[in-house]
Amino acid sequence: MLGQDLRFLPAPFVLGDRLLDSQHDGLLECLDALKKLSGDSAAYKCNEVMSELTGRMAQHFDYEEAMMRKLGVKGELFDQHVAAHTEIMDEISHIHLTSISGGYGATDALAPKVSGWVLSHMMKFDLALKPLIDDANRRA
Ligand SMILES: [Fe+2]
Ligand SMILES: [Fe+2]
Repeated sequence: MLGQDLRFLPAPFVLGDRLLDSQHDGLLECLDALKKLSGDSAAYKCNEVMSELTGRMAQHFDYEEAMMRKLGVKGELFDQHVAAHTEIMDEISHIHLTSISGGYGATDALAPKVSGWVLSHMMKFDLALKPLIDDANRRA
């Protein structure tokens, strides 16, 4: 059954593509790890989680954009979605640079901020892909 192995992705966010959904689940797993950081090693571990998140995100955005092309998404809809991905990657890289040059500062402020970017992106952009994926699945 689709979605069964997804531990972090809430059902309304399941889009119906196995790899895409498991990638989203993996991003939420990182956000969960970020949220749980505390104590003395928080800054070090935060760096680790952020590296993991950045890597997974880059991979995920590549796949999602290739999928959008395959689904025939084009024009403004495609351009705005890709621009939103680029913006998130820029923000994440900025945080990474900050971490290299002297720590994240308030680690507890980071988790809600990064979660906010990812979740609002999924709601605003990724959920719009669901009907197209459903359609493609029905045809397959
Ligand atoms: Fe997206
Ligand atoms: Fe996505």
